[in-house]
Amino acid sequence: MAIRDIVFYPNKILEQKCPPVDEVTDEVRQLVDDMVETMYDAPGIGLAAPQIGVKQRITVIDTSAGEEENNLHVFINPEIVEREGNIRWEEGCLSIPGVYENVDRCRRVVVRALGRDGEPFELEAHDLLAVCIQHEIDHLDGVLFLDHLSRLKRKILMKKYKKHLAKLKREAEANNRDAGE
Ligand code: NI
Repeated sequence: MAIRDIVFYPNKILEQKCPPVDEVTDEVRQLVDDMVETMYDAPGIGLAAPQIGVKQRITVIDTSAGEEENNLHVFINPEIVEREGNIRWEEGCLSIPGVYENVDRCRRVVVRALGRDGEPFELEAHDLLAVCIQHEIDHLDGVLFLDHLSRLKRKILMKKYKKHLAKLKREAEANNRDAGE
């Protein structure tokens, strides 16, 4: 397993629709394992393949961020087959660090996908898990949580995001300087 680099907005891959996985091979399982490790390392509660630069319909979710056992979900070629109700949740994204905003989603979804073993399954999810599934499947269609916001909110968020990126850059430069001494 390996921790992969996370792609940041506005990288173009985050705006592209991913094609489905043809077959769940050992290579796909390796990719899934790397995604899980990368998500836990971040730490985050969900990660989609395009966020590590891979255009495939794969996402991993653990709403406990690895704190609880048996909470990890792997979805290959996921598809929402039922949706119901409304919920507003404050979302963030590992590819758009430092900014958070309320997004309206469905409260309950049923998702159909293949697991890491290549077997099809269906899962009914509510609340946070349902929100995560919708956020991650959006990634596979090149849609970001920003795309659900009003133009004004998006503009405000982008200002914050630019500041946050500049801060990250300064911190990285300072770290490099320390390491060089
Ligand atoms: Ni995201």
